[in-house]
Amino acid sequence: MSTELKSAAAVSHPNIAFIKYWGNRDHHLRIPASGSISMNLGRLETRTRVTFNPALTADRLILNGEPTSGKQLQRVQTFLDHVRRLAGIDLYAEVESKNDFPTGAGIASSASAFSALALAAAAAAGLQLSEAELSRLARRGSGSACRSVPGGFVEWLAGEDDQSSYAVSIAPADHWDLVDIVAVISQVHKPTGSTEGHALAETSPLQKARLKSAPARLEQCRTAILRRDFEALAEVSELDCNLMHAVMMTGARRLLYWQPATIELIHAAGEWRRSGIPVFYTIDAGPNVHLICPAAEADRVAAAAAQIQGVKEVLQAPAGSAAHLLAEEVNL
Ligand code: DP6
Repeated sequence: MSTELKSAAAVSHPNIAFIKYWGNRDHHLRIPASGSISMNLGRLETRTRVTFNPALTADRLILNGEPTSGKQLQRVQTFLDHVRRLAGIDLYAEVESKNDFPTGAGIASSASAFSALALAAAAAAGLQLSEAELSRLARRGSGSACRSVPGGFVEWLAGEDDQSSYAVSIAPADHWDLVDIVAVISQVHKPTGSTEGHALAETSPLQKARLKSAPARLEQCRTAILRRDFEALAEVSELDCNLMHAVMMTGARRLLYWQPATIELIHAAGEWRRSGIPVFYTIDAGPNVHLICPAAEADRVAAAAAQIQGVKEVLQAPAGSAAHLLAEEVNL
């Protein structure tokens, strides 16, 4: 057994999906029931250092300076077990991770968390993986994390098994100066998390229709991004978001994530668009609304969103780059 400390650190951005991931073909491997398309969120970052240390008798997870236990730690341990199997090592690790965006600000941190962890853990374990292999590895921790590995505008190719399910960049971050204005309505943890939600998706009678029509939406979204066609992206993204929430609302357990302010913002986005401001909404598994608009409109949209009753905070994020390793000496 090696007695050497092996350490590496990585940084990654969260992402917002225009075409959503909701439902799995294989829950354990996180093979999705359909493909999805997203934009990485620049400026918002997770930084993670992994150190495999022969002196440790168990894995440790320190999140924003606090040691964690329970489910959060377990999920990281399961992930590290997979990395240890791939690398053929048996050392425990200390994982230190920091988000520069408020935890519970309605930005799914599992995507940036597991993509940064995948890069740092693979490097610390001595694995040399391609971008596709890192994306596949991140997917095992959290499905949407596979989309935070490549840069800019990203498509997760659903595939049909572990080998074929990973994400690729469709266009770099500087391809289109879109901004995500996040209108934070609630900072509390969601009552039903995504992992449980994915398992409920197939119990909705609407999921079949949603999946059947997904390839056409993926094609429309990909083309809209490549052509920088805002109106087409707005149409297909709002439709796809509504379809996902319709599935959420009609499963064996009803998931209704929206709050009154969520609906206010849906209406407001429609009014703003009709009045000539290019903006559309999309919503994940929570009440917060992501308003997508060109950078030139960002301040105006953010100011208008802040006026809506029930909006607690407004964040802005432009398209972000790929996850990458940090130099050894960099502090988190
Ligand atoms: C609604 O990737 O968070 O944000 O694999 O269980 O961690 P797990 O699920 P997760 O699901 C994301 C759901 C979503 C839509 C999306 O980002 O595509």
